[in-house]
Amino acid sequence: MTAAVLSARPGAPLSGTVKVPGDKSISHRSLILGAMASGRTTITGLLEGDDVLATAKAMQAFGAGVTRTGEGAWTVEGKGGLGEPDDVIDCGNAGTGVRLIMGAAAGYAITATFTGDASLKKRPMGRVLEPLGLMGATWLSREGGRLPLTLRGGGLAGVDYVLPMASAQVKSAVLLAGLKASGPVTVVEPEPTRDHTERMLTAFGASLTVTDHNDRRVITLQPGARLTASTVTVPGDPSSAAFPIVAALITPGSEVTVTGVMLNPLRTGLFDTLREMGADLTISNRRDASGEDVGDITARYSALKGVTVPPGRAPSMIDEYPILAVAAAFADGETVMRGVGEMRVKESDRIALMAAGLEACGVDVEEEPEGFIVRGTGKPPRGGALVETHGDHRIAMSHLILGLAAGAAVQVDEPGMIATSFPDFAPMMRRLGGVIEEA
Ligand code: S3P
Repeated sequence: MTAAVLSARPGAPLSGTVKVPGDKSISHRSLILGAMASGRTTITGLLEGDDVLATAKAMQAFGAGVTRTGEGAWTVEGKGGLGEPDDVIDCGNAGTGVRLIMGAAAGYAITATFTGDASLKKRPMGRVLEPLGLMGATWLSREGGRLPLTLRGGGLAGVDYVLPMASAQVKSAVLLAGLKASGPVTVVEPEPTRDHTERMLTAFGASLTVTDHNDRRVITLQPGARLTASTVTVPGDPSSAAFPIVAALITPGSEVTVTGVMLNPLRTGLFDTLREMGADLTISNRRDASGEDVGDITARYSALKGVTVPPGRAPSMIDEYPILAVAAAFADGETVMRGVGEMRVKESDRIALMAAGLEACGVDVEEEPEGFIVRGTGKPPRGGALVETHGDHRIAMSHLILGLAAGAAVQVDEPGMIATSFPDFAPMMRRLGGVIEEA
């Protein structure tokens, strides 16, 4: 049974060395590309969170052989393409899972029906359906392109698509569909977003070029490539590392090291921002893991100050604003976070929920349509609230981290959802000395 409420209370300094789970973005992609390729893909360090497990099950339903061979160790027997599933594909809570799988499935002459949990059924799928439709896929969905929806693929044409928003999920869906298109596919990004799909497509044998045109990233995929199986070592997820790192920065006397964190520059905006706030962060043991830059990050308690985050940095830290807002609540002065309207269409409306949760903990927050401002006093916030997470894992983890250093304990509801991305979160924080318990 999962606890109804999890509680984090202030305690001793945090110390120790931990490893965070594999990167969620790369984990989804390794399973999907493995299923589309021919042969056996071997994956180590796969994130075994609920989101990724839903993608593993989906790939089986599309005909791949997916086997767990040990902790984080998986093989995918790809059949060189996706076959028609004989039942509904349930992607659970995972926006990345469903959007990327829809893109991949659209390339084949198959019909597939997708659904997800209550949160995923509220999220916009039109952003993916629109370009897939331009390429020739058809679908029937609930009002506003919401799940459940049925997609019919096959016979796709190439497309030149200018992304209306900075979204790696939409970019990836178009590129995955493009593998089976009759002509080239070009995607133009308003701002550079995480490039794992581009890197991994190349490793699996696709022919892809990336150029800069008028300051915009232009990705062109040539059709007709046959993907061949590959070996993937999934590096540690910087979005998960963010939690113990911020915990150390806000808890007096702490020093925590997180090993094997992916340092792809399109993912490290949070660490740049924390440094600007005065965070004592050091990176050591930089190395390469399967084409990604990886390092160990040590964070020591620091007196933080408020900053204005450049809006152009948003894509490189879009999932990290909730935990940045917690750091901002302990900082001295205003932290201004703008150009982050995309936060409203994540697993929850993260601007609204962070504002509500922080306010309940005694923090001064101002909400804007596309951003928010957190006004810290340089002292720990009061805490002492039960925070509603609307089933959003990052809202839950962010407020638990706040509780570890606030004036009084903080409780979060629906803590079972933390397992979507970070099943070991609470035990790991306990190993560092944090007091997180069922309440
Ligand atoms: C992801 C892209 C981002 C991010 C999500 C993972 C990916 O979403 O929020 O957690 O793996 O491509 P958007 O593409 O919607 O910004």
